Order: sequence, then C-alpha cells, then structure tokens
Amino acid sequence: MLVEVVDNYEKLSDRAAEVVIQQIREKPDSTLGFATGGTPKGLYNRLIEAHEESGLDFSKLTTFNLDEYVGLPPEHEQSYARYMWSTLFNHVNVTESQVHIPHGMAEDVNSHCQWYERRIEEAGGIDLQILGIGANGHIAFNEPGSSLGSRTRIKTLASKTVRDNARYFEDQDMVPEYAITMGVGTIMEADEVLLLASGERKAEAMKKTLEGHITAMTPASMVQMHRFAHVVIDEEAASELDYQHHHGIVEPKDE
Ligand code: GLP
Repeated sequence: MLVEVVDNYEKLSDRAAEVVIQQIREKPDSTLGFATGGTPKGLYNRLIEAHEESGLDFSKLTTFNLDEYVGLPPEHEQSYARYMWSTLFNHVNVTESQVHIPHGMAEDVNSHCQWYERRIEEAGGIDLQILGIGANGHIAFNEPGSSLGSRTRIKTLASKTVRDNARYFEDQDMVPEYAITMGVGTIMEADEVLLLASGERKAEAMKKTLEGHITAMTPASMVQMHRFAHVVIDEEAASELDYQHHHGIVEPKDE
C-alpha cells in the first residue's frame, strides 16, 4: 500500500487531484470510479479548475459511481446522481452517455445491479476508483459485515450511516435506509484504488483499515489485499495510527 499522510484537507485534495489528473492525461479514455460524500469535494473542485484553466478533457472518459440511495430519483436534491452532476459533471465536458450511477428508483433492483456489473465489465473494468470511508469503516455502502467478495447489490444501511448522512437531509423522514452499492469485490477489481480520509472522525476507521485485521467488520480493510491501493489521508485521520506509513514503508512511530 502506498500511504501518504498530508497536513490537512487542502493538501489531501491537491494530492488526490494530481493522481486523478495524471490518470486522465495519460489515458484520456480511462474508466474512472467516482465517490460521493464531503471528502472528495475538494478534489472535484480542483478537477473543474484543471478543466477550465488547462483544458483537462473529460470527453473520452467512462465513469461509474459507487452507490445510490434507494427511493430517491436522480433529480432529488440528496441523490448521489444530483450530487455528481452539480458537484462535478455539469462543470466539465461530460455527457450523460459517459456516466453510470446506480438508479435509486430501479423497478427490478436485482437485474439493475447485474446490468451495472456488466456495464463495468464491458467498459474494460475500472482503471482508478476514488473512495471515501465511513466512520464505521464502510466503503461505498458496504457496511460492516459485508462480504469481502460482494458484488453490486442492495444493502440496508447501518444505523450509524443513517445518522451520519441525516445531516444532509432537511426532512429527517426522507433519510434513506437502503442503497444500491458496488460490492467490495467489485471495487477491489479496479486497477488502482485511491482512498481518501480527512478529519478526526475517520481516525479510528483508518487505524482499523490500515493496521487492523482484514475483516468484513471493516470492509475498507480489504484495501490491504489490493494490488495497488493508494491511500491519502490528513494528519487528523492518521492520528490514531500506531505506525508511520511512508512511501510504502511501515515503521514504529518512535524510530
Ligand atoms: C457515504 C458514501 C461513501 C462515503 C461516505 C463518507 O456513506 N456512500 O461513499 O465515503 O459517505 O462520507 P464523507 O466523505 O462525507 O465523510
């Protein structure tokens, strides 16, 4: 694993943007996996800047999002589809035909999930998957207890996740309890995963993810099995780590 600990959220966003921009420049027809949540917003702002200021070209990309709430139509203020369009896609040269986001209103959820998996395969797999992490160690909406080999499917959200996400909803009765999510197995097939975490709220989850056992109780810990996991976290998210992680080398903190 390549673990980079940076000073703060701004530096984390800068570093993540460098990685994603390099990927797009080197392979303009990349398949990128996008994440939602607060964490990647700084990254997305920098991608928009790179598009506006130096013509970073999004027109040949194919994109897949990790997850979507069940029961929210794409135009709903809190849907992840709306998040992606308003946070990134509307501001760069991406058209709908390039974008894949699980459909929260799919009538037949199981066949929709299978279709989603097939589309990823047809696109040649994901080159670079951006990931955030839940405070309970989830990735996408693979909550603790998720099979580490799981595929795209419907999941019940953990009560902690429902509580964490409730801050984004004005009407608390609308906070979803189910989501369609790529599985841990789906995510781990990406050629590279870029896991981002910022703030003390993520410190415990990052300790378990990087230094704990690989376990379904911390789905993000599966990054330890990935052939190229790139982890960028800030000092606060790294504050519970027992070891120094530096360019792939792990040493006790006092050495
Ligand atoms: C949600 C998303 C995850 C995301 C997580 C963390 O649960 N499904 O993909 O990583 O939130 O969000 P934040 O970055 O806002 O802490």
